[in-house]
Amino acid sequence: MAKRVVLAYSGGLDTSVAIRWLADQGYEVVTATVDVGEAKDLEAVAQKAMRVGAKDAYVIDAKEEFCSEFLVPAIAANALYQGRYPLATALARPLIARHLCRIADETMAEAISHGCTGKGNDQVRFDVAIETLRPGTRVIAPAREWGLTREEEIAYAQEHGIPVSATVKSPFSVDANLWGRSVEGGVLEDPWQAPPEECYVWTKSPAEAIAQEMVVSFAEGVPISLSGEELPLPFLIAKAAEVAGASGVGRIDLLEDRLVGIKSREIYEAPAAVALIAAHREVEFLTLPRELLQHKVGVEQAFAQVVYNGQWFTPLRAALSAYLSETQKAVTGDVRLALAHGQAVTTGRRSPQAVYDQSLATYSEGDRFDHSAAVGFITIYGMQSQAYARAQAKAKAHAR
Ligand code: ARG
Repeated sequence: MAKRVVLAYSGGLDTSVAIRWLADQGYEVVTATVDVGEAKDLEAVAQKAMRVGAKDAYVIDAKEEFCSEFLVPAIAANALYQGRYPLATALARPLIARHLCRIADETMAEAISHGCTGKGNDQVRFDVAIETLRPGTRVIAPAREWGLTREEEIAYAQEHGIPVSATVKSPFSVDANLWGRSVEGGVLEDPWQAPPEECYVWTKSPAEAIAQEMVVSFAEGVPISLSGEELPLPFLIAKAAEVAGASGVGRIDLLEDRLVGIKSREIYEAPAAVALIAAHREVEFLTLPRELLQHKVGVEQAFAQVVYNGQWFTPLRAALSAYLSETQKAVTGDVRLALAHGQAVTTGRRSPQAVYDQSLATYSEGDRFDHSAAVGFITIYGMQSQAYARAQAKAKAHAR
């Protein structure tokens, strides 16, 4: 009986060449294409897998699962790696890995394969997830092993009758899902070089960007409607990307620190993530007490780090998720964003659970704040700094 391998298949050149390469190693190849919202024709991708030499080709619609299990906590965490990158690729990897393991179980495969190189974060995310979920599985990363240059790879493909599409000639390496697109390589490797306009496909340039408003409504931390239209999360995110992208929102040019120690220049387009995180943060400002907001920042950063570093299936991530989910109970309300010139700016927020109380904040009629209480508060609040200043003055006097 042939040994079997489940290959994460995108339809691109690397994983197409991998099908043939694995078959040459004596494997029966089953491909798995996981739909996390890249919006391409995945049936055509599966057909290509079969043409190139796969024994079977699975397509899995995981958009719903991606949203409810991965993006909801990412929104609760306002998750941005190095303060900027919304982690689209990093969030999808563990989900893809889990499907690969499930299909490996179902097809009794001994190995799992992916197209990652030896230089990136994705290999770590896949390998660690697979080792954790399906111990004993052999992980094969052909691109990490074969050492082919891009040109040699194209030659190999042509020799073996593997179709090389026009997009292969594109100098960029792209990964995309519902939460965002990443673009790297080519001229972008020079961090001084401005990103050419063709990097961007989801966002308008500032010059072409339209000015508009968008109202995002949240229930317990989850976006539920856009400008009054209730939508299931996968559709809401796609719609938010379209709207915010038309205003040029979500372009990110980041000099990033990879887990493997390499600094790399990455271009991201994440119009939905940028707009929704901005709006979510705003509902939190309105509905959460100060101490929770301050404490939560540390957990948000830890969560982003853990996701980036491929530690999804760990007790630390589970504990951070539990904390984050607890914080979202009151995060219900609406935020109005003005979208223009590539920026999403808040112009209004409201909530039935607002901690903001106009009768405490007002300088006009109806003020309920007890001004006399402020005097006692200040006396006690300033007590230690006064005591310190007195002690310093005394020490100085003695020294003289
Ligand atoms: N640098 C980003 C990350 O580590 C994006 C990676 C994109 N992956 C890719 N195979 N093109 O999450």
